[in-house]
Amino acid sequence: MHESFLTYARYRWLWVGLLLMAASLIAYIIHDPFDGPNGGTWLGYTLGTVGALLIFWLTWFGLRKRTYSASSALRGWLSAHVFLGTSLILIATLHTGFQFGLNIHTLAYTLMVLVILSGFFGVFVYLRFPNLITRNRSNTSRESMLEEIDALDQEALSLSDKLGPKVHGMVLRSIENTRIGGGVWSQLTAKDGAQKALDTTREMLDKLKDQGPKTQEMPTMFAMVDFLADAGGDDADKLRSLMDMLQRKKTLSSKVSKDIQYQALMEIWLYVHVPMTVALLAALIAHIVSVFFYW
Ligand code: HEM
Ligand code: HEM
Repeated sequence: MHESFLTYARYRWLWVGLLLMAASLIAYIIHDPFDGPNGGTWLGYTLGTVGALLIFWLTWFGLRKRTYSASSALRGWLSAHVFLGTSLILIATLHTGFQFGLNIHTLAYTLMVLVILSGFFGVFVYLRFPNLITRNRSNTSRESMLEEIDALDQEALSLSDKLGPKVHGMVLRSIENTRIGGGVWSQLTAKDGAQKALDTTREMLDKLKDQGPKTQEMPTMFAMVDFLADAGGDDADKLRSLMDMLQRKKTLSSKVSKDIQYQALMEIWLYVHVPMTVALLAALIAHIVSVFFYW
């Protein structure tokens, strides 16, 4: 049976994480330092050290995991990373004794929380998106969809050529308007311009409609094409195939855009997770060095 990194080895790392949290919590409840709980008591030092070791180890995992090719070993590492990383929220919070302020210590804490929260998002996309990507691609690859789009563009262009310069120009413009991918923002929001292409075409049909006999109800472009077909004539046939092509292209290009969007979302969170880890390490080292100065 397929085993995800969350259920890996019958939730081994979930249990280790829970055990670590339970032990920290029990120690915190039993421990009764005369000046109140804080990072400077023996338990404070212990929890701080455990927390810092975990953070260094989690960072090391990130760098290390790239050399792992066996997926089972990778799942184990990721499982430990996720559950032990999550347990840090409690361990580090108990370490501080809830003494927060505007200082380097709390900065380290805040950065840690940001790394962990972005990690949650990472888990969410890793669990959810591979399925969505497979379903969206429906047995083809992005490359073959792009090839098909290109072929459809060429076909539409040569067909529209037979419908006069006006139609040809519109199809040409709509092809130019279709930009798939683009910058980070347009990747994330998946605006591929295909809709614009169809809007242009619809406009084009509306114009043609205005030239024809006036009818009341003409809601969709297909109705329009049917109307033209009913009216007979070679142009209407050509227009109908043109619309088929454009519709097929729109379907394909929104699939490709979705594909790019999913991929972008699967990566974007790492642009928070990794830089925040670097900042966390710097703040953590500053924190540890500074508390030893006051000691
Ligand atoms: C080797 C590891 C660590 C050591 C030796 C250590 C040491 C200390 C000490 C001695 C204090 C008390 C400072 C005081 O009362 O003025 C403290 C407080 C604190 N520590 Fe740590 N710490 C460690 C790891 C961590 C980690 C991993 C975090 C979170 C990312 C963290 C966040 C804090 C915070 C927020 C406080 C409260 C600061 C305050 O009182 O304003 N520490 N730590
Ligand atoms: C302070 C705690 C943490 C640190 C320092 C940390 C650090 C890192 C680093 C350096 C990477 C490597 C990224 C790369 O270059 O590919 C990574 C990957 C990852 N982290 Fe964390 N992380 C922490 C906590 C968490 C938590 C709590 C979660 C989830 C709940 C999480 C989920 C992930 C995931 C899913 C990956 C991607 C692994 C992969 O691409 O195969 N992390 N982490």
